[in-house]
Amino acid sequence: MKFARALNIALCLVLAGIWAFIALTRPDQRRRNFRWIPQMEDPLAFETQKRFLPGAPGEAVGAAAPGTVARGFLPFPYKATPEDADRAGRELSSPLKSTPENLRSGARIFAAYCFPCHGPGGNGDGPVTRRGVPAPPSLLSGNMITMADGKIYHIISLGRGNMSAYASQLERGDRWLAILHVRALQAAAKAAKGKAK
Ligand code: HEC
Repeated sequence: MKFARALNIALCLVLAGIWAFIALTRPDQRRRNFRWIPQMEDPLAFETQKRFLPGAPGEAVGAAAPGTVARGFLPFPYKATPEDADRAGRELSSPLKSTPENLRSGARIFAAYCFPCHGPGGNGDGPVTRRGVPAPPSLLSGNMITMADGKIYHIISLGRGNMSAYASQLERGDRWLAILHVRALQAAAKAAKGKAK
């Protein structure tokens, strides 16, 4: 029992000694104490996202060269405003041709992403409108027929009114494909009207 107490006291003294040593040898009380083999903490190799070598200019990850963009991050210099929608209509045009293959892909995209609200024929009678979601306007209206592809692209990308943005669901090419299908629906509606007369 006596021995255990003596050992406890001795260990406490050793601990107090270590604390005192650490406190007294700390050169800067605001920083971490003594560093053992600092070369291992400060490697010469570049560390990603960090400045390297004190005083050297630049970073391990260099700035992008002027006039270049990161892969997959093409700029889309438009805001979700009616003015920018009109500007997109003037400045952007579809990079796609209405080949049979593109039209098939467009129909698939439309069926997955637009049909629930806009309906199979674009009449604004999709299944969700029967469940309390406000019906969108018809995609076959005169306004829509004259609307520039770029403006539709802007609406799909950034949303408008009750329609939310689809940029995170649809990549750029898929948005243009959906527009091809909207045009195909308009052409089909026009042809059907012509026949009815
Ligand atoms: C969640 C339902 C919903 C989905 C899904 C949806 N839309 Fe819409 N869309 C709307 C609503 C609601 C409006 C009316 C927006 C407003 O308030 O101006 C609209 C408006 C539009 C307009 C403008 C119509 C006009 O007459 O000005 C276009 C073009 C359009 N949508 C295309 C699409 C396309 C293409 C897709 C598929 C990629 C799509 N939308 C998916 C609900 C939806």
